[in-house]
Amino acid sequence: MQISALKEISTDENRVALTPDSIKLFQRLGLDVLIEDGAGNNSGYPNNLYEENGAKIVSRNECLKANICLCVKMPKEEDLNLINENTVLIGILNPYENKKYFNSLNNKKITSCCMELIPRISRAQSMDVLSSQANLAGYRSVIDAAEQFGKAFPMMMTAAGRVNPAKVMVLGVGVAGLQAIATAKRLGAVVSATDVRSATKEQVESLGGKFIMVEDEESTNAETDGGYAKEMSDEYKKKQAKLIAETIAKQDIVICTALIPGKTAPVLITQEMVESMASGSVVVDLAVEAGGNCPLSKLGEVVDHNGVKVIGYANVPGRVAKDASALYAKNIFNFLSLILDKENKKITFNWEDEIVKAVVLTNEGKLRLEQFN
Ligand code: NAI
Repeated sequence: MQISALKEISTDENRVALTPDSIKLFQRLGLDVLIEDGAGNNSGYPNNLYEENGAKIVSRNECLKANICLCVKMPKEEDLNLINENTVLIGILNPYENKKYFNSLNNKKITSCCMELIPRISRAQSMDVLSSQANLAGYRSVIDAAEQFGKAFPMMMTAAGRVNPAKVMVLGVGVAGLQAIATAKRLGAVVSATDVRSATKEQVESLGGKFIMVEDEESTNAETDGGYAKEMSDEYKKKQAKLIAETIAKQDIVICTALIPGKTAPVLITQEMVESMASGSVVVDLAVEAGGNCPLSKLGEVVDHNGVKVIGYANVPGRVAKDASALYAKNIFNFLSLILDKENKKITFNWEDEIVKAVVLTNEGKLRLEQFN
């Protein structure tokens, strides 16, 4: 049984679905590993590293003929038409935006698995692509901010005078926000953070950050059963805007990570608030792909607004492609271990399993996830 990793087609996708280190793991599952020529080049994994670890370098066409085909993003329609019937395609397939591919997936009876739909349950943590990639995005957001910031992060007492520590504020304390706090602290910044979920207070404080939030009756019930933030009322938003406006003017760097699953990101920093920040300050909007927490951010750009840099880089995990690919490959391996019957060398789906039920988009010519109808 063969498993393959395709070279990504998008110019802003540097990640790859299999890394040289992960090959042994897949071989232990009884799989022969094929890598498309040059697939790992942009993430720092040249062909020879794959070969040294026992993979075979092949053409795209050969990759598409494997029993299990791995990718980061959805391949091209022409690729899907070249895949054999009953192939298992695993990737971050983004079914919300890729409905146009459903016909091809079904016509070729491709079993497509969307790694970003892995449920956020304890048993699935080792397969959780959203977390593994958001963690790196949180780290990278601080590094990107540091690059644009013309000053240092840590306090320095020197013979020539004192350098004050940078003040960093993190809006939204999920996986990315927590790693942004930890990274900014490691660099020596003074860090504060806010969220609508009061459960995050303890997490922020355990990382040495100062937690601020609007506490009222609504905030005691701001979390869904799944642990995600709810969309807040207009009244709450007004109170929150006042709190952020009061705090933001004193910040050097603001990292925005606030998201509400399936919805446009909440606007937390207005143009007026950005204008209250000192020239040379930096805003990183990690939510830019979901509409942005700051209306000034532009996808893929660094906007200079009166001297304040507003960073809206796309695909931030792809900016740490080597580690992001390694964690992604591990996530895939853990998922594959769940669905691969090693003895009989075939993929079997237990349709009662909530992970399988959440992830398999198409199978045997049918769309299984009705929410994408
Ligand atoms: P996310 O990426 O959906 O959102 C980022 C953060 O933005 C969240 O903390 C959210 O509360 C916050 N936010 C939303 N609206 C906001 C607003 N108006 N103002 C300020 N902050 C706002 O979050 P992520 O990282 O996906 O985590 C969400 C939940 O999932 C958490 O409870 C986390 O513990 C849980 N989780 C569970 C996992 C598991 O059990 N496998 C894995 C990862 C996360």
